[in-house]
Amino acid sequence: MIHTFVTDLLDHPKVVETQQHMHHSISKHDHLARTARISYKLARLMRADIRVCVRAAMIHDIDSRLGTLTTHGRIAAAWAAAQGECDEVCHAIETHMYPFGPKPRTREAWVVSLADKAASITDLTVMVSGMMTGRTWERRRQLKLSDPHFVERKLRRRRRRTRTI
Ligand SMILES: [Fe+2]
Ligand SMILES: [Fe+2]
Repeated sequence: MIHTFVTDLLDHPKVVETQQHMHHSISKHDHLARTARISYKLARLMRADIRVCVRAAMIHDIDSRLGTLTTHGRIAAAWAAAQGECDEVCHAIETHMYPFGPKPRTREAWVVSLADKAASITDLTVMVSGMMTGRTWERRRQLKLSDPHFVERKLRRRRRRTRTI
């Protein structure tokens, strides 16, 4: 059901590549999908536009590493606008980090901001329970090998080490 609102986004390379990115010790794609599922439920409950909420949720953290806690919403919103997303979707993305960043002005933006917090709490629960089973460590190891941020960091460290020898 949710898929019908985001079929095109799920095929977009920028969304697909989030499967390789680490976010809260899980893949960013898992976080985005969880936020979208919660947004869907909350939007129904709060009588918000489901399509706007689910689309915003599915891309709300795109390129989050290019910004800070307070600015990455704006970066993701700019990317969404460049893809042709409507103002309502872009606003919900820009304000998802509230109170770390601008305040939501629409019902849809409140839905996405609340859903992101609920999803993040669940992500952390998954992370902590996975520490007992070893799943978290295994997942972190895999994502560190696939996430360009960690791959490049490793290369930078290696280069620095060889320069000092
Ligand atoms: Fe975020
Ligand atoms: Fe998020």
